[in-house]
Amino acid sequence: MKETIDGHARSVRSQIPLLTRELCGRPLVFLDNASTTPKPRSVIDAVVNYYERSTANVHRGVHSLGEEATRLFDDARREVAALIGASPGEVVLVRGTTEAINFVANGLELGPEDEVVFPASEHHANWIPWRVHGKPVPVPIDEDGVPRWETIEKLITSKTKLVSIGHVSNVTGAIAPVEEVVRIAKARGVPVLLDAAQSLSHLPLDVAKLGVDFLAASSHKAFGPSGVGILWSRKEFLAKCPLYQVGGGMISLNNDIDVGGFVPRDAPFKFEAGTPAIEATIGFGAAVKWMRAIGMDAIRQHDLAMSKYLFEGLSDIPGVRILAKKLPYEQRIALATFVVDAPAMTQESVARALCDMFGVCVSAGFHCTHVLHARAHLPGTVRASPHVYNTTEEIDVLLEGVREIAS
Ligand code: ALA
Repeated sequence: MKETIDGHARSVRSQIPLLTRELCGRPLVFLDNASTTPKPRSVIDAVVNYYERSTANVHRGVHSLGEEATRLFDDARREVAALIGASPGEVVLVRGTTEAINFVANGLELGPEDEVVFPASEHHANWIPWRVHGKPVPVPIDEDGVPRWETIEKLITSKTKLVSIGHVSNVTGAIAPVEEVVRIAKARGVPVLLDAAQSLSHLPLDVAKLGVDFLAASSHKAFGPSGVGILWSRKEFLAKCPLYQVGGGMISLNNDIDVGGFVPRDAPFKFEAGTPAIEATIGFGAAVKWMRAIGMDAIRQHDLAMSKYLFEGLSDIPGVRILAKKLPYEQRIALATFVVDAPAMTQESVARALCDMFGVCVSAGFHCTHVLHARAHLPGTVRASPHVYNTTEEIDVLLEGVREIAS
């Protein structure tokens, strides 16, 4: 099995410059992809090419550089839209998943009694907006942070205005039963938001097949630059959704501007006031192109094999508790969050030791999920999140490190 997983990963990793560096005198083992992914050469080149050859603002300049920059920028939106089976006119470019969810929270114009149902295990990006807009109705979770999905049906009432779910948990790696949730919500006429921050680069996605109403995602967890992401929704919602920021670039007529009036452009442009994150968007497009060249199905196959290898390896180490360990592989991505029972060490210091002694980068702490950690009675965890370029040999380095620290 090792050779099958690693052969493909090696050809992919040769395209990512960061992976050639050393850390603390050891080869870098980057297992923090749920936080952000390293960038392929083609993404770096796309950004540098914009700086070196095509720097100009978009949708404004009449000169050739402006046209070039606009073409690169518009191509990127088309590329990202194609990845999720959407039309480019339905893809609003935002700063990332957090802004996309806030966009919907604002756009639905929720009142204090309007309820939003979402799993209590969610990342703060899909928790806090519902505290500020509307009334949060969390789906209970078990002590491993897994939502008790069977309770969702009775939580949806006549007051429910939205069901909002993370496609893949950033802590357990569990894949949400989207089809089932959509079926239940739709039967009650309630729209569904899918937070695809952790799934965009791991799973094949198609908004029509998923049947959701909103999809939020970020570039930086999908091999692209930070500072850009998407909010996808249907034309009907975008046509009536209120503007939350206004300014240049989003107006089609400004004859009345001196008396306070304006005519906004059509979506998505009316939501994109000001100069956008041009180079980040171009890089995002290149990242999507890169992932599609590998193939989302191939990425998923590697993910399944890696998940099995990682979980089996961690399970063999005494003194390690893995969250949601019993979930079958096909219901998760390759991401393991665990606690190492090492006397006098916090989980943050375990992660630090993995870096300093073994060159392994993982996350530690609460991963923006304080409610999940409170329910699991844990003051912090370590998270290893491999991706398509990681090899089993790298997982072996992680396992060696955890074994040594746990002993
Ligand atoms: N949201 C990112 C994570 O879960 C940063 O790590």
